[in-house]
Amino acid sequence: MATVLMIASGKGGTGKSTIATYLATELAQKNKKTLLIELDAGLRSIDVISGIEQHAVFDIGDVLRGRCDPYKAMSTSPHTPQLSIIAAPYKSYDTDFSNFKQVTDSLYHDFDYIIIDTAAGIGNAFYAACKSAVMGIIVATPDIISVRDGRLVSDELYNNGIKDIRLIINKFSTRTFKFSGFEDLDDVIDGVCAQLLGVVPMSQQIAVNAINGGQLMQGSQEKLIFGAISQRIMGKDVQIII
Ligand SMILES: Nc1ncnc2c1ncn2[C@@H]1O[C@H](COP(=O)(O)OP(=O)(O)OP(=O)(O)O)[C@@H](O)[C@H]1O
Ligand SMILES: [Mg+2]
Repeated sequence: MATVLMIASGKGGTGKSTIATYLATELAQKNKKTLLIELDAGLRSIDVISGIEQHAVFDIGDVLRGRCDPYKAMSTSPHTPQLSIIAAPYKSYDTDFSNFKQVTDSLYHDFDYIIIDTAAGIGNAFYAACKSAVMGIIVATPDIISVRDGRLVSDELYNNGIKDIRLIINKFSTRTFKFSGFEDLDDVIDGVCAQLLGVVPMSQQIAVNAINGGQLMQGSQEKLIFGAISQRIMGKDVQIII
């Protein structure tokens, strides 16, 4: 039965879709059958980051409208066969998410993990994902605004029944962190009020891959970091790599 995770942030552009894609890839490469669903209607990006852009004919909007079943909307990752992806609606800004839980419930027995990438902020996609998920992962960049907004999201997750709330600090750079206004990473963690799952650096490899749908290089620091995050999701007690 699937563990359903949702990825959220207050501020936009913190790296939710990027992190959702690499986390899903790592879980799938550990032989966990994984489904990644993007709920950011009208602002899709996972199709490009994951390399399925040319294959995504149907999307989650088609599934929610009953135009096709969820399996028809799934594309298999070009490099990770255990990973299936459902893209967000390309244009529709008025997607009705009210039966989203029925969709995830219908897939519950076929996957080990379902990862829902939500839109920035606290809107319809966020509330729809809360009904399905057991864990909320907040992606925040180490700056005052992202952390403050992350705290609002953390509180709203809790108020919507998600008690397991984790934090990924993304786009971290030791060079710029000293200007962030935070003393140290504990300060960021306390600001969001969530348990730290990982710290992902500001990375040229990640930025370039987002454009061409490429994979993280074996042996690279980024690959090791996502490997460790995925193990922590799987309940293993592995060290945080920074
Ligand atoms: N660790 C990183 N290093 C460098 N660039 C990154 C990193 N993480 C994300 N990016 C870049 O930041 C931009 C925003 O990333 P992404 O689309 O994943 O954010 P998002 O939170 O999903 O955005 P939105 O709120 O619009 O859904 C992209 O150009 C992406 O390539
Ligand atoms: Mg996104």
